[in-house]
Amino acid sequence: MKLLEERILKDGNVLGENILKVDSFLTHQVDYKLMKEMAKVLADKYRSQGITKVVTIEASGIAPAAYVAECLDVPMIFAKKHKNITMTEGILTAEVYSFTKQVTSTVSIASKFLSAEDKVLIVDDFLANGQAAKGLIDIIKQAGAQVVGVGIIIEKSFQDGRQLLIDSGVEVTSLARIEKFENGQVVFTQADA
Ligand code: G4P
Repeated sequence: MKLLEERILKDGNVLGENILKVDSFLTHQVDYKLMKEMAKVLADKYRSQGITKVVTIEASGIAPAAYVAECLDVPMIFAKKHKNITMTEGILTAEVYSFTKQVTSTVSIASKFLSAEDKVLIVDDFLANGQAAKGLIDIIKQAGAQVVGVGIIIEKSFQDGRQLLIDSGVEVTSLARIEKFENGQVVFTQADA
């Protein structure tokens, strides 16, 4: 998506070897106009497929997922990383290992929000090693629901996430795909939308 690539080039900062900081429009401060445009592209891609829920993981997946859910007129559910005291009923859980942070966390969704009739679109801000999306797929399958696709704002194509998801039979749609960082600059490869 050209608009997103331009914004990454303008406002993104490459940190170290492989981290892109985009906190001015995506992961901390949110540019709602850009968010609406991006959500529309993802929603249009999946509109004909009868999506009933959009699922993401807290924290920075929530903003893009909410906008996509609005476009598709369905609920958005975000997996929680910390069990909270109000989650007293049945919960579905998965272990998610973060290569970036080198910690494993248990993520959960209340089972009452997903059923075998659901057709789910997963949305997340970043795809790196794919562990977050893999954990969400695991939870959605525990509910007997169907994962229709994974919509990603920024994919780091030099990491393994996309292949992992494709190998598990799930379609991936990324709005920006980063091939590499070269001398602190972002180099894109062909995006999916
Ligand atoms: P994975 O989910 O694809 O396996 O990714 P990984 O473990 O490598 O990443 C862990 C966290 O770091 C994720 O956020 C992911 O969105 C984020 N992340 C990965 N690469 C980048 C990057 O280049 N830039 C930025 N800004 N974030 C990146 P999280 O820990 O789940 O949390 P949150 O920040 O959404 O709360």
